[in-house]
This record gives sequence, C-alpha cells and structure tokens, in this order.
Amino acid sequence: MTELTIRDAVASDIPALHALVESAYRGEASRAGWTTEADLLDGQRTDAEDLADILADARQGLLTAWDGDVLVGCILIARRGEGIGYFGMLSVSPALQNAGLGRRLVGTAEQAMADRFGARRVRISVIPQRDTLIAWYERLGYAATGETLPFPYGDTRFGLPKRDDLSFIVMEKALG
Ligand SMILES: CC(C)(COP(=O)(O)OP(=O)(O)OC[C@H]1O[C@@H](n2cnc3c(N)ncnc32)[C@H](O)[C@@H]1OP(=O)(O)O)[C@@H](O)C(=O)NCCC(=O)NCCS
Repeated sequence: MTELTIRDAVASDIPALHALVESAYRGEASRAGWTTEADLLDGQRTDAEDLADILADARQGLLTAWDGDVLVGCILIARRGEGIGYFGMLSVSPALQNAGLGRRLVGTAEQAMADRFGARRVRISVIPQRDTLIAWYERLGYAATGETLPFPYGDTRFGLPKRDDLSFIVMEKALG
C-alpha cells in the first residue's frame, strides 16, 4: 500500500462506500477479514439512501481512507449530545485488514470528534457475540458501560438476522 489519504466523504463517494461497507460486514467476501457479521446477519449493512442521509446530516459524517483512487476504509462519526461522540460503520477492505488501518481510522475519528464536536467521550455499540472485536475495542481503550440496546429486528435496512438473540452493548472511552 502507498501512503493513505484520509478525507471527508462526499456524495460522489457513495457507490464506493456502499461496496466497501458491504464487503467488510456481509457475505463470503467479508470472511477474508478477521472479523465480520457474516455469521450473524444476511442482507444489507447499509444502502445508498442511508449513506446519503448521513452525508446530508450536520450531526454526522463519514471519514474515508484512500489508497490512490481506491477506497480502502471508512468510519462514521456522529455528535450524540453535549461532549459525546459516536462512531460506527467502521470498515476496512477485507484483504487489507490487520495492518493497522482500523486503529488509525478510530484514532482519526476520535480526534475529529474532539475538534469538531467538542467530544470528551466517545461511545460505540457492538453486538455482544463479537468477542474478538470487543477485545480489540478494549485494547483501544473502550470499556462496556453496562447499557444494552435492542437490535432493530424487523427493519431490513440493518440486515436479516440469522439468530433471535442479537442486541448491542454500549462501550465508551474518555478522550485524553
Ligand atoms: C474491525 C476492522 C475495521 C478492523 O480493521 P483492521 O484494519 O483489521 O484493524 P487493525 O489492523 O488496526 O487491528 C487489527 C487488530 O485485530 C487483531 N486481530 C487480527 N486477527 C485477529 C483474529 N483472528 N482474532 C482476533 N484478533 C485479531 C490484531 O492483533 C489487531 O489488534 P491490535 O490493534 O491490538 O494489535 C475490520 O476488521 C473490519 O472492517 N471488519 C468488518 C466490519 C466490522 O466488523 N466493523 C466493526 C463493527 S462495530
């Protein structure tokens, strides 16, 4: 990989973003990476409309990582109340995972949320069955708050669950 560029997404990035996110989260392509939702969910992770809504919302945005003109990573950042940031949709191209880009995207997102939203704490929500992912977030400084959120069963925009016991745990990190 050459030097990567990280920049804010724009509307013309949506087709590439959609393809990247689906390849990282869902289906056989995602199994080339070290963590995926393929065993938990079928269906889509996002779609062009969802991505356009994110880009049109002043409280949210997407940071994108580029190797030349190839999109290789992305992360959603959002303002969730006074001093609180949230990130999600963290995706690295499956073939390029485990080389430090995910960690770099999280660090860039934390800095962006501190600078843009005045975030002092960052929250994420993770499906509890994803133990290796949770362990990675713990190594990045996130800890479970004890809160849980329901999985949006019945809303196919978030995918087609393969099991009936999905939920989210909330994890949080105080920014230094
Ligand atoms: C999660 C994700 C963004 C990480 O990206 P990445 O570029 O691989 O991240 P990094 O290279 O910075 O870090 C990889 C970490 O995984 C660890 N790892 C690698 N293979 C592993 C395995 N088989 N089991 C457990 N941990 C593993 C590495 O040791 C490393 O940990 P460290 O940073 O503490 O050393 C990427 O796997 C992805 O896109 N997954 C699919 C989408 C997803 O699940 N997103 C998160 C949803 S909340």
